[in-house]
Formats: sequence, structure tokens, C-alpha cells
Amino acid sequence: MEAFSANLGNRRIEVVRGDIVKERVDAIVNAANSTLLGGGGVDGAIHRAAGPDLLEECRGLDGCGTGDAKITRGYRLSARFVIHAVGPIYRGGQEGEAQLLDATYRRCMVIAAEHRLQSLAFPAISTGAYGYPRREAAGIAFRRLLQELRSETTVERVRYVLFDASAFETHEEVLRELLTKRS
Ligand code: APR
Repeated sequence: MEAFSANLGNRRIEVVRGDIVKERVDAIVNAANSTLLGGGGVDGAIHRAAGPDLLEECRGLDGCGTGDAKITRGYRLSARFVIHAVGPIYRGGQEGEAQLLDATYRRCMVIAAEHRLQSLAFPAISTGAYGYPRREAAGIAFRRLLQELRSETTVERVRYVLFDASAFETHEEVLRELLTKRS
């Protein structure tokens, strides 16, 4: 089983290889676009698994800005909620993409705490169709998630779910580096 996990006090971060729609957590995060009306990749997988009611609820949300996120119910998913996050499209790294990606992860954690959620699963936001270089995106994601898990939050478990083996390897490596650097 491809999985790496680390304890942070009584909290935990796990990097696993798998399909995020199967995650049994309070909320799964969707890598959405600003219309929130579905798409390909993980967005398509989540909408297919959740069923048509998810799109119905999304229609009423009036979209979502880049770096922001909005929460809906999970419908047919095991997860009770879906947090639809809109990451930046990577355009070379000189247009504030790093700050926007960081803001996207932070918003998801803020929304999770507002809803008093305890467990969350993330995909690798922006690293697919949006073209964000994987290693750089992983560093931004894990630095933010570690910071939030070491601060005031209701979230006790974060699972970072990678669809393919090479993505899993890169993310495991980046998280191990960050954890050893800190200790
Ligand atoms: N479970 C986990 N991860 C997945 C799954 C899945 N079922 N399907 C795809 N992924 C991974 C991809 O391999 C990639 O690493 O999610 C990561 C994000 O890729 P995208 O889904 O392409 O998302 P993103 O790069 O943020 O682009 C968002 O794509 O699908 C459209 O509507 C979406 O317009 C938006 C854009």
C-alpha cells in the first residue's frame, strides 16, 4: 500500500495513493474551476460519484474566485461534504500563482474549521489541467497544511490523495523533506 504518514502531536497528515472519491472523511476537497459547474479530472470524478444533486447545489453558489473555496454537501459520496477549491492556472510563476495556491489550501482549512470538521482529504490542486509544477505545488501545499495543523483548528487528520504512482512518490519525498527540516 503506498502510504506515508506523520503525527503532529495528536494530529496526523497522511500521503496516500488512491481515488479521492473513495475517501471516508468529513470532507473531500475538489480541484474545481471558477464556474463550479464541473469539469474533467478530479472535478469530473467527484461529480460522477456524488451524483447530479451536487451540480444542482453548485449552480446556486454563483461560482468561486481563484484562491477561494466553497462547501457543499457530499450526496452519494462517503464524505459528508465537498469543499470546492479553485486553484490558480500556472502561467510561469510570475503572476502570483504561489500565493494563490497557498491561499486556496488555507481557505479549505478555514472552511473546515468553521464547520468543525475533523478529517479532510485533498487532491493535488492545480497540478493537472492547471499545469502547476508538481514538486513546487507539493511544497506550497504541505508547508501550509503543516502550519494549519500546528495551529488552532478542529481538523485532526489530513489525507493527501494522489492518483498516480509518480505523483505519490514526489509528494511523499517533499513531505519527508519538510518534516525532517523542521525537527
Ligand atoms: N482522485 C485523486 N486525484 C485525482 C483524481 C482522483 N479521482 N483524478 C485526478 N486526480 C489528480 C490529477 O492526477 C492531478 O494530480 O488531481 C490532480 C489535479 O488535476 P485536475 O483534476 O486536472 O485539477 P487542476 O489541475 O486543479 O485543474 C482544474 O480541471 O477538471 C478541471 O474543472 C476542473 O477546470 C478545472 C481544472
